[in-house]
Amino acid sequence: MKHLLKMLDLSKEEIVDILDLADKLKYQRAHGVPHPRLAGKSLGMVFAKASTRTRISFEAGMFQLGGQALFLSAADLQMNRGEPVEDTARVLSRYLDGIMIRTFNQQEVEDLAKHGDIPIINGLTDFSHPCQVLADLMTIREHKGLLEGLKLCYVCDGNNMANSLIVGCLKMGMRVSAACPVGYEPWLEVQDFAKGNPDFFLTTEALEAAAGADILVTDVWASMGQEDEKNKRQQVFAGKYQINSELLAAANPNAMVQHCLPAHKGEEITHEVFEAHAKEIFDESENRLHAQKAVMVMLLES
Ligand code: CP
Ligand code: NVA
Repeated sequence: MKHLLKMLDLSKEEIVDILDLADKLKYQRAHGVPHPRLAGKSLGMVFAKASTRTRISFEAGMFQLGGQALFLSAADLQMNRGEPVEDTARVLSRYLDGIMIRTFNQQEVEDLAKHGDIPIINGLTDFSHPCQVLADLMTIREHKGLLEGLKLCYVCDGNNMANSLIVGCLKMGMRVSAACPVGYEPWLEVQDFAKGNPDFFLTTEALEAAAGADILVTDVWASMGQEDEKNKRQQVFAGKYQINSELLAAANPNAMVQHCLPAHKGEEITHEVFEAHAKEIFDESENRLHAQKAVMVMLLES
């Protein structure tokens, strides 16, 4: 593994290696065992979109690994004034040991990887959010003891979270049902990946997707960059694409709930369900730290 660009690039074995190392790093942190595996290394963190979890967990994680993380606002880089990605990649490769980037277009992340010669980590694009899904898989395995055979139901927009969850879960031998409105389906690359797989089921009906699920997942109706579509999306999603008590009743007893956050309570998830499953949801947030430390060690350790 040279980069983490999208879930489609990872093998099942690579995912298992990341999750195993994440569990080990979580144990070491909990027991005060120092693990300075990236001492002397620098990670650049380019952000063209807002972030709470990604920024802080990468920064704290790099510190815990003995390295340094630099916050680079995309608005302040020369890239924002037209410096080509291929030149930025070659310059940053001379200073840094790795780059984490959160941006809009997946192609920008792929181009950084193509033109630079240091590991690139995708911290979210419109297409994918692999760091989040690795933390989700870690959390599900932690709570359920295994992944294979479990059924995950995703109810919401066919966005970066849907795309990454579908691919990540199918690679891990899970079953996935997705309920998305017409016109808001997962991206074609992902539908192509899942095509013909009996473990994947796409519908417009949330209740149908939730039947017998072990994990229910949702995300915001309008993602970052879709602020202009907020009102239109409210009309499409409201009342139909929400994790609520009715949806939970259709799932398996003891079904867990995951949300990458930030949540819009009262929209894609009710206050009641969110608070009843807060432990699992904040475990998921915490696991961003451990999963990303594992990714950084695997990509940046000498
Ligand atoms: N889940 C997630 O990526 O959160 P941030 O947008 O706060 O980084
Ligand atoms: N789909 C959301 C995820 C945020 C972590 C977005 O892209 O804004």
